[in-house]
Amino acid sequence: MEIVPLSDAVGAEIRGVDLRETLTTEMLDQIEAAFHDYAIVVLRDQDITLEQQKTFALHFGELGSRARPGKKPNELDEYGEHVMLVTNVRENGKAIGSLPDGEMTFHADTAYFEFPSKATMLYAMELPSWGGNTLFSNGYAAAEHLPEDMKRRLDGKKAMQVYEYGTTLKTKEKYDRENFPYYAHPIFRKHPATGRSALFVSELMTEEIVGMSKEESDEILAQLFEHQKQSEFVYEHEWKVGDLVMWDNRCTNHARTDFPRDERRMLRRLTIQDTTPVVEGAVPYTQAAAE
Ligand SMILES: [Fe+2]
Repeated sequence: MEIVPLSDAVGAEIRGVDLRETLTTEMLDQIEAAFHDYAIVVLRDQDITLEQQKTFALHFGELGSRARPGKKPNELDEYGEHVMLVTNVRENGKAIGSLPDGEMTFHADTAYFEFPSKATMLYAMELPSWGGNTLFSNGYAAAEHLPEDMKRRLDGKKAMQVYEYGTTLKTKEKYDRENFPYYAHPIFRKHPATGRSALFVSELMTEEIVGMSKEESDEILAQLFEHQKQSEFVYEHEWKVGDLVMWDNRCTNHARTDFPRDERRMLRRLTIQDTTPVVEGAVPYTQAAAE
């Protein structure tokens, strides 16, 4: 097995693994270590069934549910409780999956729950001729490189995470908290495995900083959203069919670039449920300053 970094920002490719085969404990330990070191791991040229994808995912925890308030899992679609088809494919004019079209702003999956997803695993099955890339922003680096006065202002603060399902570009209006889940999480989030603090806010889902005036909260969040999308923190993944990407939702945010509506795009998503409570992290120091 070979671990090859994908960028200076975040992510690594794992080579020499075929997910159709049974993986040894040693291989799984190496994959998990790379996942913690790089936050995103990419395995290319995989040709796997849903069952093989599930088998791999289950090495990292229980599968997350897609159940939404007021909707039973088996009403979602034929793929059942754990599987989300991220696709624009339509049958009889109706999208057969979720999040069908266009650009999506940065977010961490299910950040609006008390227990957000620990990890997300996407497997590419059909892709358009251009676009639909996934941008990954390193939450550790974003946190560490905030201006020192901003770190102090955010120390101990929580941010409210809210999302209306189906929205891909946050509008200026407030999300509807009556009908959609929301949860306040620490802005500096401690990763349970690495101990490092990550910036846990995102343009798509973070609505306000708890305990601040609206003006101050809006101003700071706008700065944080611009900060986290800077290219030095971001790896852009150009998908190829057969790519399996697993990212850590506790220390990264991701976004999607636009792609043609009239070309098919289909990825198969599983999430790994987190069972560890979200914990406040220490104010991060810059690695460079400490050296
Ligand atoms: Fe997502």
